[in-house]
Amino acid sequence: MSAPVFITRVVLRNYKSIGYCDVHLHALTYLVGANGSGKSNFLDALHLVRDALAGSLDNALNERGGLTEVRRRSSGHPTHFGIRLEFELMDGKRGHYAFNIGALASRGYEVQTEECVISGVSKGPFYKIERGELVASSEIPFPAVTADRLALVAVSGMKVFRPIFDALTSMGFYNLNPKLMRELQKPQAGRLLKPVGENIASVIGHLERVGPEMMETIQEYLQTVVPTVQGVERKRIGPMETLEFRQDMAGAKHPWHFFAQNMSDGTLRALGILTALFQGNSDYAPSLVGIEEPETALHPAASAALRDALARASEHTQVIVTSHSPDLLDDLDLSENALLSVDFEGGETRIARLDEASRKSMYNHLFSAGELLRLNQLAPDADILDDQALNPTDLFGKALP
Ligand SMILES: Nc1ncnc2c1ncn2[C@@H]1O[C@H](COP(=O)(O)OP(=O)(O)O)[C@@H](O)[C@H]1O
Ligand SMILES: [Mg+2]
Repeated sequence: MSAPVFITRVVLRNYKSIGYCDVHLHALTYLVGANGSGKSNFLDALHLVRDALAGSLDNALNERGGLTEVRRRSSGHPTHFGIRLEFELMDGKRGHYAFNIGALASRGYEVQTEECVISGVSKGPFYKIERGELVASSEIPFPAVTADRLALVAVSGMKVFRPIFDALTSMGFYNLNPKLMRELQKPQAGRLLKPVGENIASVIGHLERVGPEMMETIQEYLQTVVPTVQGVERKRIGPMETLEFRQDMAGAKHPWHFFAQNMSDGTLRALGILTALFQGNSDYAPSLVGIEEPETALHPAASAALRDALARASEHTQVIVTSHSPDLLDDLDLSENALLSVDFEGGETRIARLDEASRKSMYNHLFSAGELLRLNQLAPDADILDDQALNPTDLFGKALP
């Protein structure tokens, strides 16, 4: 089986620091760039789609400070932002989902256009909505729509749109927070790990029951990344729960037990990342996992194991990673196609694959991406960016080449 790629292409307009971006994603994609270059903003655009569909558009915008914080601030004063995701579903059907959202004079916002097309514009299923009015659809009758919501939520009750709704809402985005992972957690269903790891005890407990082989993979990698840790399990404490780690202690015959409370940031973050990567099980599997700076708080020696875990996970779930760590990228076998370069120039974020010279030297195994990053040689391809500036892709309309 070839590695699954759910989101094949992302086009963004005026999303936070990103004026325009049009990139292809692979089974495993590293977004590489300096601090503040806009890596998180790219992931956040996908995260917003998930949040807006799983909850509501209003909430997703509010959590981010409202439309004024989400749309790009610049001298050109764009009043709207737009997102187009091209995808391939499990059954092999391809399509795109796109919308743009603009400010209204009377404060507030509206969905200006929303379009979902599966297997071709005229073939369908598809729909297109403009400012709360249905313009075209393969499906009749069509549920009522309004301009302040994404219609995909309303049509998710229809069999034909359910798969894309389910896939978009089962994307997971992670920026793990050891402080919250340490606290006692309320028992929950634990099907999908939450963004900062606030329900990790439940997710581990769930995997112990329904995905023991995944739990084994997690434990194996955890031990490679943090050699003193022998294992981890969910522990109930009264009405709450936490994680309990088994750890080797010098001179002790049996491993000692420690609650999450007493574990290091690095260990907790590593467990969080591994859980995010390997949480898929017979019950439930994420369609895409986005991970922020997995190397944070880890010893550089752990990089190889981490890289290996990312590659292994991407055999069954699409993975996107943000990083500015040369250590994580220090691998001559890393494909030049797995990298997207993010930089910040002229007040905006630009994202593209690496320039030709860097791609060649990686392809020929002359330099690893990590070495190129140290040499400051991981620039986005300027020709592609120039070309895109002249011929920007429409968010809506036919499938792109
Ligand atoms: N609405 C916006 N308009 C323009 N720039 C923004 C907006 N929101 C955030 N930014 C800019 O994005 C940058 C941070 O990007 P971020 O994705 O967090 O960087 P990274 O993850 O690469 O460290 C900051 O410099 C911030 O000023
Ligand atoms: Mg960031």
